[in-house]
Amino acid sequence: MCGIVGYIGYEQAAPLLLNSLEKLEYRGYDSAGICLNDGSRLVYEKAKGKLQVLKNLTDNGKTLSGTVGIGHTRWATHGEPSDVNAHPHLSESERFAVVHNGIIENYIQLKEHLAAKGVEFLSKTDTEVIAQLIEHYYKGNLIDTVIKVLSKLEGSYALGVISKDNPDEIIAVRKESPLIIGLGENENFIASDVTAILAKTRKIYRLENNEIAIIKRDNVTIIDTDKEEIQKEIETVNWDISAAEKGGYEHFMFKEIMEQPKAIRDTIAPRIKDGRVVLDEIKLTDEQLRKFTKINILACGSAYHVGVVAKYVFEKMLRKPVEVDLASEFRYREPIVDEKTLTIVISQSGETADTKEAMKEAQRRGSHVISVVNVVGSAIAVESDDVIYTWAGPEIAVATTKAYSTQLAVIYLMAIYFGDKLGTVSEDEYRIYIKELEQLPDKINQILADKENIQYLASKNFNCKDVFFIGRNIDYALSLEGSLKLKEISYIHSEAYAAGELKHGTISLIEQGTLVIALATHEALIGKIVSNIEEVQARGANVIGVACSNHPEIANIAQSTIFIPETCDMLLPSLAVIPLQLFAYYVASLKGCDIDKPRNLAKSVTVE
Ligand code: F6R
Repeated sequence: MCGIVGYIGYEQAAPLLLNSLEKLEYRGYDSAGICLNDGSRLVYEKAKGKLQVLKNLTDNGKTLSGTVGIGHTRWATHGEPSDVNAHPHLSESERFAVVHNGIIENYIQLKEHLAAKGVEFLSKTDTEVIAQLIEHYYKGNLIDTVIKVLSKLEGSYALGVISKDNPDEIIAVRKESPLIIGLGENENFIASDVTAILAKTRKIYRLENNEIAIIKRDNVTIIDTDKEEIQKEIETVNWDISAAEKGGYEHFMFKEIMEQPKAIRDTIAPRIKDGRVVLDEIKLTDEQLRKFTKINILACGSAYHVGVVAKYVFEKMLRKPVEVDLASEFRYREPIVDEKTLTIVISQSGETADTKEAMKEAQRRGSHVISVVNVVGSAIAVESDDVIYTWAGPEIAVATTKAYSTQLAVIYLMAIYFGDKLGTVSEDEYRIYIKELEQLPDKINQILADKENIQYLASKNFNCKDVFFIGRNIDYALSLEGSLKLKEISYIHSEAYAAGELKHGTISLIEQGTLVIALATHEALIGKIVSNIEEVQARGANVIGVACSNHPEIANIAQSTIFIPETCDMLLPSLAVIPLQLFAYYVASLKGCDIDKPRNLAKSVTVE
């Protein structure tokens, strides 16, 4: 979602701001803008559409002078995507400029209040109200004014503020939306996430809620809303800069698909010592674990799909009931969750608003929360009771691949670890799970090596209008992800269906040539899924089967088959997801879609 950047130093700020905004494009946006203090006034340019439009307008930033500035990519919430609704927003006399990520919930009341005093608004956004409030309350001290304005705002915000009167300062503040300060030599930065500044510095401050940063060229002071100074630790980011670059691949998504063996290895290897799973990063005691009567999983989108796989895994391996909830539904349904419930929250970004709020609801009800998060120091990671990080590195493509795979890996680690402690996983099973888990990266490499076969299947099918993904048990859980991957990047309508449920209604949609992708990896239910394949074929479906290499008979039934190596049932989604990701990727590529930035989507969904 919206991306914020800011620069103060001795170089011309505009080209730097545009470069940083480019690094945030992956978050999703529909307009962009920058504003600088040129020494005597605020100069700005804003444009609907891609960043390239803004670059063209400013000759790559050359036409705007000034060494301090702020920039923004906007994902429309209040007011349609347009030049005027793009950020930065300026106050009426153009004395102050603001970039904002988040939502001001009481902006209508604030706007009415200011309008009654004669303030004229240009845009339809909630953000403009912040710039106008600053001007309204300003009596010569910007910090005091920002603090006063914050006391009027309800909702979530990360803000960057500059003023015409002070070319030597950026003010930054956050509540519920992420914001970091990058620390350079005689230059400092603000950004929504580290990818924007990685080329410039690895040293950062991560702002906490209600912390205000006063950023000058050679120092950064952080204060609270009582103007008390806060001493913060400088964090050094260890993400490799190349991880946030395409590295010769055409798309980040493809690069991230190919990175999955490494990402899984990086996630599991440090947690397996002498053949035993070690999760010493969590504080949860064995006694607490034994007392839980239920597991509650909260997440959105693909992370929710990991949760659905986890339900099958945990119920089989831990013999505890598991409920998986869409985070956006959880808090509004009076959930039965208490101190006897272990909650697992799954989120790549660690900033997803629905997931964060659902987590807080579970905590309010007394539940212990373990989060599974990729972005270090993100809100969910910090606010959960325990966090287990996925070590996927930065995920730039909007459609998740390596984060999904590493989240699954953490679920397996937890299942083996907890199963051992609860006595529900035998020593023999334990050894097999560890061996198979450690072999996943190599087996994924085998599947990736056969990608041309999947590309061929994509070339045969990329014109289809409707696709059904079917499976049973853990294959059904995976079909949810296969379907989402395809529809979100290729814009082809697709649905995931529990194979046994089709005959209760949806099978009426199957007609001559409808593509059905049948996941047939779950050993115990092969016979059942074969029957379901025959049912849809009898109605004209064209079936691509996904099966393990020890079930060649699927190739005799399905029109085409993708084979994956064998592993134990519970781990199969980690292998079977790879061809589904590749299929979605190749189909979208053949259709000429904007794969890394699909329409209407944002990477980190920080609004409810
Ligand atoms: C789909 C996708 C999304 C995210 C969802 C949750 O490819 O990436 O469905 O999984 O928005 O995001 P996080 O994991 O950041 O909470």
